[in-house]
Amino acid sequence: MFSVFLLNFVVKSVICNDENHLLFPDGFLIGVASSAYQIEGAWNVSDKTISNWDHFVHHWPEKIYDGSNADVTTDSYHRYKEDVDIINNLGVDHYRFSMSWSRILPKGHSGYVSKSALRYYHSLLDELDAKGIIPFVTIYHWDHPQSIEKAGGWLNDLMPYLFASYARVIFENFGHRVKYFITLNEPSVFCTMAYTTASFPPARKLNGTGDYHCVHNQLKANAFAYHTYDRMFRKKFKGKVGIAYQCMGSFSKDDNDIVSDDLAFEFECGWQAHPVFSESGDYPEIMKKKVAERSRAQGYEKSRLPTFSTFWVKFIRGSADFLALNYYTSRLAKPLQRSSMVNWPNDEGLEYEFDPKWGSAQTPWLKVVPQGLHKLLKIIRDKYNRPTVYITENGVSSSSGKEDDIRIHYVYSHLKAILLAIKDGCDVRGYTYWSLLDSYEWFAGFTYQFGLVHVDFDDVNLTRTPKKSVEWLKHIISTRKLESPV
Ligand SMILES: *[C@@H]1O[C@H](CO)[C@@H](O)[C@H](O)[C@H]1NC(C)=O
Ligand SMILES: *[C@@H]1O[C@H](CO)[C@@H](O)[C@H](O)[C@H]1NC(C)=O
Ligand SMILES: *[C@@H]1O[C@H](CO)[C@@H](O)[C@H](O)[C@H]1NC(C)=O
Repeated sequence: MFSVFLLNFVVKSVICNDENHLLFPDGFLIGVASSAYQIEGAWNVSDKTISNWDHFVHHWPEKIYDGSNADVTTDSYHRYKEDVDIINNLGVDHYRFSMSWSRILPKGHSGYVSKSALRYYHSLLDELDAKGIIPFVTIYHWDHPQSIEKAGGWLNDLMPYLFASYARVIFENFGHRVKYFITLNEPSVFCTMAYTTASFPPARKLNGTGDYHCVHNQLKANAFAYHTYDRMFRKKFKGKVGIAYQCMGSFSKDDNDIVSDDLAFEFECGWQAHPVFSESGDYPEIMKKKVAERSRAQGYEKSRLPTFSTFWVKFIRGSADFLALNYYTSRLAKPLQRSSMVNWPNDEGLEYEFDPKWGSAQTPWLKVVPQGLHKLLKIIRDKYNRPTVYITENGVSSSSGKEDDIRIHYVYSHLKAILLAIKDGCDVRGYTYWSLLDSYEWFAGFTYQFGLVHVDFDDVNLTRTPKKSVEWLKHIISTRKLESPV
């Protein structure tokens, strides 16, 4: 009864007249995001050590679309005050940024903590505090000390312990002033890019083995960090610790094909989310079954998907206070004609395409499909017993400079999908636009512009100029009402 009552209340607070005039529920947070390697620059200041990304872009510039690196990028390490002014001008509630492991622990272990790194992040937090902007801190957004990479990185089974001790240093030093932590960003994306497509460091093609092993260790790492917070800090600091997944939406190409629909969710999203958020824990049954079958057919002694012991199933289950969802796009799924290739898509048994009706953006993989987000949120609500969700990334790249109508349309339609999902009983508490500034986009270098704010990388001053979408978003934030853009 109580929950029905609550739901009605939520529903009423969202609806105002009709679908074109939706209100944000009280307390709904709207913010912007970034990550350390993409914006900080200052790769060699004070005692910071080389990260896996520094090493990668310096040694293999040919792996980056424009051969660039993030040695300087938007130089936010030095220009953070200007950036916080921009954030403040937007009127947002929160700012999601990540801390750099190689800056904080230059020796790769927690026996030595860099004072200058702590000073930098405290200065940034001071600025945010002064403006009343809530920090969401991502502990790991893909960069770690190269010394750890040399020791095997995420394929080293000690990595969960190394990560947890790094997370402990962050909780210890910042827990009194940061109430939202995100342990890891997008395990499945990082691990497939690093170990299947070889477009992230360490760029190894360990199809169908390295990718699984990497996610396996990340799920353990998250659980270790979560329990560390729980046991040592939660009582004192009363914060929340979540994990961020990038889940693509999917629709079966053939409407009657419910198998592909579910399979796509379980392999793309459930792979990372089921062990943490489901009632039973562990990987999704269908995934365990499929990978085991394929492995056997390929002559492996056992499944290429690693197994969690009963201890780990329990330790990982429930190891997040909220589900941080990064959503960009959706795809159409259909059964794959089997090939003998050993890889994740082949284990999944699906192939993907785009619906030609979906709008395009600058990035080829990014179609504008807000209904995919609405659907995904409902699946998450149903499969994981209505967890608390924060959208921690959602955004679009555009090549049209400051005239970014496509961004206005994209943000509007996705915010609308979120408000409709809330109306459907999904517990979504916040929205974070990716990204604040045009930034270094990993292997795409500076060729994709996701920013609300344009950065002139040809100008020594790296001048920041708000795009058209900034005025629009400011208006939405100040009125807390979602009106369709004219
Ligand atoms: C640090 O990197 C910057 C940018 O690449 C370069 O100009 C500078 O000389 C480097 N400083 C040191 C101490 O290596
Ligand atoms: C590994 O997977 C990638 C991406 O699916 C594919 O392009 C590549 O051909 C695969 N390599 C092998 C050896 O199967
Ligand atoms: C960069 O900033 C300096 C100091 O504010 C200013 O003198 C200079 O004109 C600027 N350069 C450009 C290209 O905007």
